[in-house]
Amino acid sequence: MKKFYVTTPIYYVNDRPHIGHAYATFAADILARYHRMLGDETIFLTGTDENAEKNVEAAKKNNEQDVQDYVDRMSAVWQITWDELGVSNDDFIRTTENRHIQGVKKFWEKVYESGDIYKGKYEGLYCIGCEAFYVQSDLTEDELCPIHKRKPEVLAEENYFFKLSKYRGKLLSHIEKNPEFIQPETRRHEVINYISDHLNDVSISRANKQWGIKVPNDNTQTIYVWFDALINYLTAVGYGTNDGYFNKYWPAEIHLVGKDIIKFHCALWPAMLMSAGVDLPKKVFAHGFFTIDGQKISKSLGKTIDPRDLVETYGVDTLRYFLMREIPFGGDGDFSIERLSSRYDSDLANGLGNYISRVIALASDQNQLVIGQDFKSIVEKTWAVYDKSMNSCEFHMVLEAIWRLLSVGDRYIEEKKPWVLKKDQSRSQELNEVLGTLVESVRQIGWMLIPFMPNTALKIFEALGYSEETTRDFSEARIWGSQNSQPKINKLTPIFPRLTI
Ligand code: MSP
Repeated sequence: MKKFYVTTPIYYVNDRPHIGHAYATFAADILARYHRMLGDETIFLTGTDENAEKNVEAAKKNNEQDVQDYVDRMSAVWQITWDELGVSNDDFIRTTENRHIQGVKKFWEKVYESGDIYKGKYEGLYCIGCEAFYVQSDLTEDELCPIHKRKPEVLAEENYFFKLSKYRGKLLSHIEKNPEFIQPETRRHEVINYISDHLNDVSISRANKQWGIKVPNDNTQTIYVWFDALINYLTAVGYGTNDGYFNKYWPAEIHLVGKDIIKFHCALWPAMLMSAGVDLPKKVFAHGFFTIDGQKISKSLGKTIDPRDLVETYGVDTLRYFLMREIPFGGDGDFSIERLSSRYDSDLANGLGNYISRVIALASDQNQLVIGQDFKSIVEKTWAVYDKSMNSCEFHMVLEAIWRLLSVGDRYIEEKKPWVLKKDQSRSQELNEVLGTLVESVRQIGWMLIPFMPNTALKIFEALGYSEETTRDFSEARIWGSQNSQPKINKLTPIFPRLTI
């Protein structure tokens, strides 16, 4: 049996989740559900990044005396949000957990044994917002951090350094030999340029900080948050605590990350792994950023949206569909309620919802359904696009293909006019075949929607009277005509009712 291990970034707990975070989490959820459908032993990991300075700042701002209490409370907010959004993660890692701390210490020691950690003086700039080190030329004209527009701290302290520059050649050769490693293509070029021109040793500890994981054998230093956070992908599957589990699931098939953190994932992280003697993940896929009504998502500018608010009105499947259909994964995009609402009307209420309710209504009084061959080839072609686009994380292409199938179905109904056939006794054979074919097309669409719109898929199977459908073997279920019982068509409450907002 194949295994599939997919991760999201672990999220900072200095704030609540917004739709930007839901975007990456939904994408990972879609991949996880697809691989479960294929029968792969799947682990879908998400979690929270808790040892950051910015979390200490946020605790203070929220008048919380104890940082641990603060991160406990906020981590719960993230977990509850994903639960409410129906996210199917198998594990949730927190970097303040023991299993993580133990693994990080072991990892540090491995890197130390490789001779890649040395003590040195760090003099430079640090942005708490990014939790990243900067040099003067990275800053804006006003000497601010380009992302957070805040003044970076000036640091001058003794730190431990990681010999990142030593790995330049090895990293470049790995990227060259494994074109799949960094996706999409444009990001690969960006990373290659960065590694070729800017790869310097990095400070991996901070002096005299109370919050964070202590450096083994040196209590005066804490481990730099990125060096600690990246290791979550290992510690969640047992690195340092459960070798059997670790050997089964590592390396991850894919890390999904935002384009802003690609250098950490495609330069620092693989170099850390090479140094510690651990295999590299198979793929890092960077998605783009999206704005809200053309503006950066920002709490201070009032441009932020809690995904739970949208779900209350539109339902979670609509939000999942919209984000994946509207913004090609890997590219940048814009989010607006107008676009969401317009896609709800056109693609979901009029498109998908209408097709399904039409077929169900037409077939509901018919009990002699016969599956014809009219859709066989288009359904097979759609599955081929489906598998290919899932593998390349081109989720919008999958959805486009499903919606093409829907429009073929709509045309078929118009052409065959089953309501005319119904009036003519002598054409009952033809009617049975037209309706049986349509019902089978709806069952196939139900399967195609499972990873993207799991609730809708279930409603479809219920309406067709296939309550056990999802427990079937997918490789058989996706074959045209392989339904194992006659449908017993049930009444369908509109899946996407008209909204009056
Ligand atoms: N804690 C680090 C990740 C450590 S992973 C070992 C971090 N956390 S974050 O909470 O700031 O961001 C998490 C992810 O959310 C990033 O991948 C980031 O790209 C993504 N997004 C944040 N804002 C976003 C948008 N506006 N649009 C799309 N994704 C966005 O970075």
